[in-house]
Amino acid sequence: MRILLIGRNGQLGWELHRACMTLGEVIAVDYPEVDLAQVGALRELIATVKPTILLNPAAYTNVDKAEIEPELAHKVNAVAPGVLAEEMKKLGGALIHYSTDYVFDGDKGSSYLETDQPNPINQYGVGKLAGEQAVQAVGGISLTFRTSWVYSLRVGGFVNKVLAWARQQEVMRIVDDQTGSPTWARMLAEATAQVIARGGGNPLDYLQQHSGLYHLAGAGAASRYEWAREVIERDPKRDEQIATQLLPAKTAEFPNPASRPVFSALDCSKFSETFLLPLPDWKESIQLMYG
Ligand SMILES: NC(=O)c1ccc[n+]([C@@H]2O[C@H](COP(=O)([O-])OP(=O)(O)OC[C@H]3O[C@@H](n4cnc5c(N)ncnc54)[C@H](OP(=O)(O)O)[C@@H]3O)[C@@H](O)[C@H]2O)c1
Repeated sequence: MRILLIGRNGQLGWELHRACMTLGEVIAVDYPEVDLAQVGALRELIATVKPTILLNPAAYTNVDKAEIEPELAHKVNAVAPGVLAEEMKKLGGALIHYSTDYVFDGDKGSSYLETDQPNPINQYGVGKLAGEQAVQAVGGISLTFRTSWVYSLRVGGFVNKVLAWARQQEVMRIVDDQTGSPTWARMLAEATAQVIARGGGNPLDYLQQHSGLYHLAGAGAASRYEWAREVIERDPKRDEQIATQLLPAKTAEFPNPASRPVFSALDCSKFSETFLLPLPDWKESIQLMYG
């Protein structure tokens, strides 16, 4: 089996590369050698590589910047996924694509199901929703995994910011009025690899039977404040921290270009029941992330 992975340097892409190594030949690429905004080159790449499965964790993920350059975010997050799906359909292969909890407005007040109505409140969410819909409209073999609050120790993201702040500030203030499902990139990658492996020697038949949209995230829900508290308390190098107080704050105190949903945790029962894969509690993954 040949797997083409677009976005190998991202939080999730890095882990997917490793988690899928035992499934077959993995050809891993990233920006700028492959640009999702360049549709012609993208089609050419897929037609040349002829993958059995295309993994697309690449995306325009800067939520605030997407408000400032929505056209580019739209090309990458909305148009490109449809192109990937079309090319994979021509080859008879499968696309595994990732979307976001930010397709929801956050007003539901309890964990979102796949059947809940999306209503994005920022440009990133608008683009990602259009991307999901484009993949679905093509009608090939495709799985779209909607995930939430992805983190990894390796690069960027909220967890590394929290660890840096804890070494720079005695008093830390983190918002407690945004709730999501913190998701370790490695867990997400390994769950993806397990789904592919479920198909045994015939992954395409299996993926075809299970094509569709799934919520896939760390189990449970946490505010950013609760998430930061776990990250700080479980930090094995706590002696390096100078923070003595972690205080809850409100989103309105830190104005940003993009609005965020107040509650976007995901109910992942459909994924767990379909693939017989229980998803670990978000706190457990933080502990495992530290090793
Ligand atoms: N991070 C989260 O909290 C979160 C939450 C919900 C859903 N998701 C979704 O989960 C998936 C993985 O997220 P992640 O956190 O792993 O993302 P990430 O770390 O930001 O990685 C995204 C990757 O995409 C690449 N990329 C950006 N623009 C590109 C372009 N025009 N052409 C090709 N590649 C491009 C990036 O390259 P450069 O670094 O060179 O730009 C990077 O390697 C994405 O679909 C994202 O929308 C993420």
